[in-house]
Amino acid sequence: MLIKKRPDWHLPETAVTDEKDYNHRREFIKKAGIMYAGSSVAAGVATGATAGFPEKPNVNRKYVVTDRKPTPYKYVTGYNNFYEFTTDKYLVRHFANQGWKTEPWTLKVGGHVEKELTLDVNDLCKEMGIEMRVYRFRCVEAWSMVIPWDGFPLSKLIKKAQPTSKAKYVKFTTFMDEKAAPGFKRYNNYDWPYTEGLRLDEANNELTFLAVGTFGKPMPNQNGAPIRLVVPWKYGFKSIKSLVRIDFTEEQPKTLWNSAAPAEYGFYSNVNPKVPHPRWSQATERVIGEGALADRIPTLMFNGYEKQVAALYKGMDLVKNF
Ligand code: MTE
Repeated sequence: MLIKKRPDWHLPETAVTDEKDYNHRREFIKKAGIMYAGSSVAAGVATGATAGFPEKPNVNRKYVVTDRKPTPYKYVTGYNNFYEFTTDKYLVRHFANQGWKTEPWTLKVGGHVEKELTLDVNDLCKEMGIEMRVYRFRCVEAWSMVIPWDGFPLSKLIKKAQPTSKAKYVKFTTFMDEKAAPGFKRYNNYDWPYTEGLRLDEANNELTFLAVGTFGKPMPNQNGAPIRLVVPWKYGFKSIKSLVRIDFTEEQPKTLWNSAAPAEYGFYSNVNPKVPHPRWSQATERVIGEGALADRIPTLMFNGYEKQVAALYKGMDLVKNF
């Protein structure tokens, strides 16, 4: 990822929306057993799947973070990586809300499946049912957040798609519309569209999530409206935004970051404090949040999800397969 001179945890006041309370959302968050009491939810901007989004997503209490403070909404939605718009984390929010339409939105599912699917995201939300989960989120740039996501497990969609025995991997593709987002032309050294991939068993892991919202409301454009992947034990760049295609493949798919810099961004990219990035350590992370913008804490193996995912990599050399 690009190196910037300005310390990137510095969040100028002008980059943050004024906040407005949404009491019913605070209720969910309280129910989730996490302390969001001090935070509130910013006034909504253009968002994704609004028609299919439930009034109140159910909180899944199995997925909460109890050892970390939750990240306030204004940082989750005001400090973003979305290179299709800009590499400036504070400005993504502005560029992504200048007429980019994220509703209605179609997601295609294909490759090695019994039947190709063309899905309307609002219909998909209704069919799959939406739950809220709170996950740790660790960027490869060594900063982290704790985020409530609303969505459904990817495994539910995989079941619907019925992959054939040839399917070994899952490839994910982001939208590509040069008129809607200036980054495609500005950063034309990247192999657009943004793509990512998982092994099929990783994709079917209970943690792997398709998020259509955050903080109990539809996904803001800057966070990857209307539907994005969230893989909490991997570096954040694996959590690809604004999906238009999911394909089941026999071969390991080519992915944008791995193609751009294979020595820096491995296909697996599991959070691992013992494997440094060639240009920085991954042993600690900066916590993005109020009053503690530059706090550093130790990074946990698999971002704290070792219990749920270690078995996926049994016997594998995690240094070689970084
Ligand atoms: N997906 C797309 N399509 N484009 C991107 O630039 N950035 C990735 C990931 N998904 C990115 C993307 C990176 S580097 C991170 S850290 C997370 O999105 C950031 O998600 P957030 O902005 O919701 O925190």
